Amino acid sequence: MASLTQVALLFAGALCLMCLPGIVHSTAPQFFVEGKVYCEVCRANFINKLSEPMAGAKVRLECRGEEAGNITYSVEGETNGTGLYRLPVEGDHDGELCEITLVKSSRPDCDDLPDEGWAQKPASRVTLTTHNGIQGDTRDANPLGFAKKVALQPQCSELFKELDIDQDS
Ligand SMILES: *[C@@H]1O[C@H](CO)[C@@H](O)[C@H](O)[C@H]1NC(C)=O
Ligand SMILES: *[C@@H]1O[C@H](CO)[C@@H](O)[C@H](O)[C@H]1NC(C)=O
Repeated sequence: MASLTQVALLFAGALCLMCLPGIVHSTAPQFFVEGKVYCEVCRANFINKLSEPMAGAKVRLECRGEEAGNITYSVEGETNGTGLYRLPVEGDHDGELCEITLVKSSRPDCDDLPDEGWAQKPASRVTLTTHNGIQGDTRDANPLGFAKKVALQPQCSELFKELDIDQDS
């Protein structure tokens, strides 16, 4: 037969289990953002079949309030052996602009960012809310790439020819 102490302990345990989801909810990540980082060996502004996955690249996810425009969430991470990163995200970021940018390359021969002229600094937007009907806690981001300082030749010329892109334009 259970003693009064045992019953009391069980009761306390049950109470604690009930309060647990509240605690877990505020600390456990609500989403994960996954994406891939490449070294774009042809200095093209798109990922192509010659692009090489980059391990050890640093990326940053930042969310900004739509109106105020200030940073509401920020987290950094690194790609693993296959060039993939997985960033934890706490909370729902409805109505915010969330995007991943490249922070640091792991390859000295491939650390250019097209942030000048017409080219935009590479960034991948992600939606981090359940309020718009998108389900699932893993959100995929578009791949990002650093540009190799010197394009791989002759492979890149051949690729551009194949894709019918004029390299000098
Ligand atoms: C962000 O914007 C909100 C609303 O305008 C403001 O209350 C808050 O102080 C701002 N936070 C920072 C870190 O600037
Ligand atoms: C790299 O990370 C991805 C996403 O978390 C995972 O699926 C994959 O197994 C990892 N690969 C290695 C080699 O660690």
